[in-house]
Parts: sequence; structure tokens; C-alpha cells
Amino acid sequence: MSPSFPQTPARHGVAVPRRWRREVERILITDAQIARRIRTLARAIARDFAGRELVVVSLLNGTVMFLADLIRNLSLPLRLDFIGVSSYGAGTESGELVFTKELRLSVRGRDVLLVDDILDTGKTLSRVRARLRALRPRRIRICVLLNKAARRVEPVAADYVGFEIPDEFVVGYGLDFAERYRNLPFVGVLYPHVYQQGCRRASPARPRAARARRRA
Ligand code: PRP
Repeated sequence: MSPSFPQTPARHGVAVPRRWRREVERILITDAQIARRIRTLARAIARDFAGRELVVVSLLNGTVMFLADLIRNLSLPLRLDFIGVSSYGAGTESGELVFTKELRLSVRGRDVLLVDDILDTGKTLSRVRARLRALRPRRIRICVLLNKAARRVEPVAADYVGFEIPDEFVVGYGLDFAERYRNLPFVGVLYPHVYQQGCRRASPARPRAARARRRA
């Protein structure tokens, strides 16, 4: 459907900035690679949605950087709304999803672009898509920055994928571990000692830590 095909991050020789070297093992995708890829994705999306009433629905919180960069490259009229969703599990694969913010805009009869930072097991997007479908949009297309296909559990595929990534613990460019690292301008691989240590200290009452365990 989309002429924009997923990319595997190209090898590069960019070193992890000194500040993050003890926590981030290596940079998987640089900020320049992300910026280039987003421009390509945006062109494909603009072509596919030309002349339509587009509603961009973005999932909180991990999409913050990706969304901002994506929509500023989208040269077509759109409306923007957010859905808040979190995994409140005990660190197992079956963590329960809890909706923390509902959609406010009507999507009935509209074209919806559902944006997320990473498609992992697919549980989040599968649940969110089902919720959106009940609101009777004209069509729903899914756009993710990262696709970790190796961990898929639910049968959900994205229409627009920035990068195919291996099954590694990634943070940065919006993605967190226990709410940290979202501000890194690149996507990096976290050292196991960081998230293993974080797990021991995490309280079961803190969903973000639990979710981070699940992603490891
Ligand atoms: C992360 C990410 C995706 C989801 C993907 O969200 O932002 O929404 O996990 O995982 P899945 O495919 O296995 O469902 P998280 O609940 O960690 O919230 P966040 O966006 O606030 O980081």
C-alpha cells in the first residue's frame, strides 16, 4: 500500500555521547537517520491521504518525539488527538492495558492515522485499534517508528514502519526505561545491567517499570 518500505538501521560509527556511555551500550539509530526516514514516511503518508480528512491519533507517552517530527513534515491538513494507554502488569507477558486518556475528537467516517513509537508484542495497538474501529472511522492506518517483529504476539501489522529492529532493549527518542531516557535524540541499546538493576528496585505499583521489564 505504501511505497515507503521499512528499513533496517544502517551501520554507522557514531559513538554514544560521554554522558550516556555507562548506560547505553550503542546507538542503534542516529538522529540523522531518524530525520531522513521520517521525511520519507511523511511523503508516503501525504500521498496516501491526499484530499482526505485526516485525524492523527497518537499514543501517549512514547510517541512524543516521533509524532512532533512526523507531523511537522506532513504537508496536509490534519487534526490531532491522543490516547493514553499503559501496561499495568506484574512484569509478565500478560500485563493488563489501562486507558489513561480517551480520544476527544470524533473519528466517525474519518481517515485515521494511528501513531506509535514501537510495535512490539502488538498487544497495545491491537487493543487500541479495536477501540477505534468501534467508533466507525472510514479507515485506520498504523504508523510506527520501530517494528520489533520477533516479539509479535497479536496479529497486527503497521502500514508505515520507520525501522525494523532486532529484539534488543531500546530507549531514546521517546522510548523509556522506567520513564527515563525519553530525551535521548537517538535510539540506543541499553546495557542489561541497567534494566536488570532497575527491575530489582522497581515497585510493583509502578507500571512503567513493569512495562520496561516486559520489553526486555
Ligand atoms: C510502549 C510503546 C508501545 C507499546 C508497544 O508503551 O510506546 O505503545 O509499549 O508494546 P506492545 O506492542 O508489546 O504492546 P508503554 O505502555 O511502555 O507506554 P509509553 O508509551 O508511555 O512508554
